Amino acid sequence: MLSPPLSLVAQPPEWVAPGLTRKMAAFLATRPATPCLVVDVDVVEANYHALRAALPEAEVYYAVKANPAPPLVARLVGLGARFDTASLPEIDLCLGLGADPAHISFGNTIKKARDIAAAYERGIRLFAFDAEEELRKIAENAPGARVFCRILTDNAGAEWPLSRKFGCAPTMARDLMRLAADLGLDPVGLSFHVGSQQTDLTQWDHALALVADLFRGLRADGLTPTLVNLGGGLPTRYGRPVPEVDAYGASLRAALERLFDGDVPALIVEPGRGLVGNAGVLESEVVLVSRKDDTEDRRWVYIDAGRFNGLAETEGEAIRYPIVTGRDGDDAGTGPVVLAGPTCDSVDVLYDRADLRLPLALRAGDRLRLLSTGAYTTTYASIGFNGFAPLAAHYV
Ligand SMILES: Cc1ncc(COP(=O)(O)O)c(C=O)c1O
Repeated sequence: MLSPPLSLVAQPPEWVAPGLTRKMAAFLATRPATPCLVVDVDVVEANYHALRAALPEAEVYYAVKANPAPPLVARLVGLGARFDTASLPEIDLCLGLGADPAHISFGNTIKKARDIAAAYERGIRLFAFDAEEELRKIAENAPGARVFCRILTDNAGAEWPLSRKFGCAPTMARDLMRLAADLGLDPVGLSFHVGSQQTDLTQWDHALALVADLFRGLRADGLTPTLVNLGGGLPTRYGRPVPEVDAYGASLRAALERLFDGDVPALIVEPGRGLVGNAGVLESEVVLVSRKDDTEDRRWVYIDAGRFNGLAETEGEAIRYPIVTGRDGDDAGTGPVVLAGPTCDSVDVLYDRADLRLPLALRAGDRLRLLSTGAYTTTYASIGFNGFAPLAAHYV
């Protein structure tokens, strides 16, 4: 592979505090208006290199949905990354930034026929499916395309599970792969997703065991599957420790060697969160600190970022972002809080059951940072709920 042009070779990010690089800190020192996300693109690059080193056998298809910001996608294009896209606008974004259509997968299993046709027209040749109707849409609108079938897997252990919405049972996948060949498509392989923020490495083993079994069945049917798409799920560091990317690579390699008897197929990984999560910090301002009753210990801390402007993944308190404030370490100590967003919607509560404690000295006007917010934040923001603007973002 060609080396990227020199201008693309970033300095490795320098961490000055957990979740904060020197570049993020320097930008935040300019006191940007809040709420805002600050992303250090060098961290994304470092994560990309680390993943390539940990699993060099796999092509990395960045899951654009995690953060489609042009500076970030452009950096990945320059590094030779490939792209997993969910929609035509994501495809156009990648193409507009110089990605090769041969390096883009249309990975959503739910696509309109006209979007499949438009993607095909743009040169996209790799499509996901998990249902017969979808397969027939692809056959009609992307004749001869390479297709992979997504199978249902257990998302146990994932902090952001993807439930039963995607994938089909392995027996159905076997039938559909045969049908794909009959329809003139090229049924190249299988995919799965073990759930986002997956910290249990054995979940990939379970999914791969299903895939290996299915490969044998497909070969018995006369097909020649060659590709396994390992999906996303690679975790980022929030509060608790997560397996390092090297451990992920080693564990996958061991499972693949064992399950495919040394005949390891071509591999794709589709990281979203794992590439961009720890590259971002969300700066917010405390709008109000109050109590519901004088006798109550627990305070309510309302900040200017909430469910509707970037923090949607606090739904169910699933993703627990580490939080720091300028008053950490204050002599008065900390006390229990409910953390909530600024809108008039009662679901705009971020952490209630999380046993969150914040400094007792915290007051309106203070800044509060949520770390590891590079993934699934900006694009989840509403366009103006209660008049609040979408989350501003700065790429440094
Ligand atoms: C098809 C597909 N691939 C990859 C991803 C990225 O997942 P993660 O952010 O857990 O890496 C997603 C996320 O929803 C997905 O739907």
